[in-house]
Amino acid sequence: MAKLVGIILGSQSDWEVMENASKTLDKLGIEHEVNVISAHRTPDRLHEYCSSARDRGLQVLITGAGLAAALPGACAAVTPLPVLGVPLYSKATGGMDALLAMSQMPGGIPVGTLAIGRAGAVNSAVLAASIIALSNPQVADALDEFRQKQTDAVLALPDPREA
Ligand code: RP5
Repeated sequence: MAKLVGIILGSQSDWEVMENASKTLDKLGIEHEVNVISAHRTPDRLHEYCSSARDRGLQVLITGAGLAAALPGACAAVTPLPVLGVPLYSKATGGMDALLAMSQMPGGIPVGTLAIGRAGAVNSAVLAASIIALSNPQVADALDEFRQKQTDAVLALPDPREA
């Protein structure tokens, strides 16, 4: 399968959390690429990557960034692809800085903003799968199976003392 998702990190230091997005895409069988591209430190690279993303076959961009997280908004400004944003934890505000930077986009340039941290990283991959599944039966089947497994896992162990 061709690469359908591009994961972009604002910094190498974001990988510990954003690895959860990559692992979840792996579970769903979705080919993807991962790149560190900083909106503030490498703006030219960001423009080059995002402006060519659709023509290269990518269907969704997942971005993870912390602090004054300009990355997802800057990507969304350049590409019409769906851009998902995962706000990452910061000591100063617990990730609220990044959450607000991503969610408070001006009208017309959306960033689909997920939860702060690990849950957001996992969900960015699941949401990317939901978007791709609309036109890709293979991913739709993988997503159905992923969700069913989650349901089965909860039903199989209702008593946490038996874990
Ligand atoms: C943001 O600044 C990155 O996304 C990262 O979350 C944060 C800190 O980056 P480093 O100083 O660790 O490279 O741009």
